[in-house]
Amino acid sequence: MTGDPTTTDLVLHVNGQALPMTVDNRVTLLDALREHAGLTGAKKGCDHGQCGACTVLVDGRRANGCLLLAVAAEGRAVTTVEGVGAARDDADPDFVEDLHPLQRAFLERDGFQCGYCTPGQICSAIGALTEADEGWPSHVTADVADGVADAAALDDAEVRERMSGNLCRCGAYAGIRAAVLDVAAQVEAHR
Ligand code: FES
Ligand code: FES
Repeated sequence: MTGDPTTTDLVLHVNGQALPMTVDNRVTLLDALREHAGLTGAKKGCDHGQCGACTVLVDGRRANGCLLLAVAAEGRAVTTVEGVGAARDDADPDFVEDLHPLQRAFLERDGFQCGYCTPGQICSAIGALTEADEGWPSHVTADVADGVADAAALDDAEVRERMSGNLCRCGAYAGIRAAVLDVAAQVEAHR
């Protein structure tokens, strides 16, 4: 409590770090990340849950940061695009960041142009592959009751459907789908 009924003191757990902040009760997770935590990876496109640019992972599940209040994210593990790769050695001035396999695949497959949608696409793809590994069906899964075996079972139509919440104004969809399919096929890479 802050004494001000319109604000809340909270601690967000983002990319393994505890981030204390005081926010207006109406602040979204997206704005808390961008404006309070300085994590500008998640992007604001529509601010209405329509474009997917703000997609982050909350407790490992895809979430639109613009639709979730920051106060509702307290106590949950938030992952943004800044947290999906692993720094090999922070103490080394020449340290090289290990890209997440999806980040590498987006580079190799030319999966972006301006890059504005890319953080959301990457987070969404990580969530989508996790869902597939857990057997979740999509709208185009042949047998919805059976679901899918794992991410390696996804075909082009499945990736298209599962990534359909993430829009790309540049139209880099062919590269995005290829990148997601590449990593889906590398069963161990995304687990
Ligand atoms: S900014 Fe959240 S879905 Fe568009
Ligand atoms: S790469 Fe520009 S919006 Fe997708």
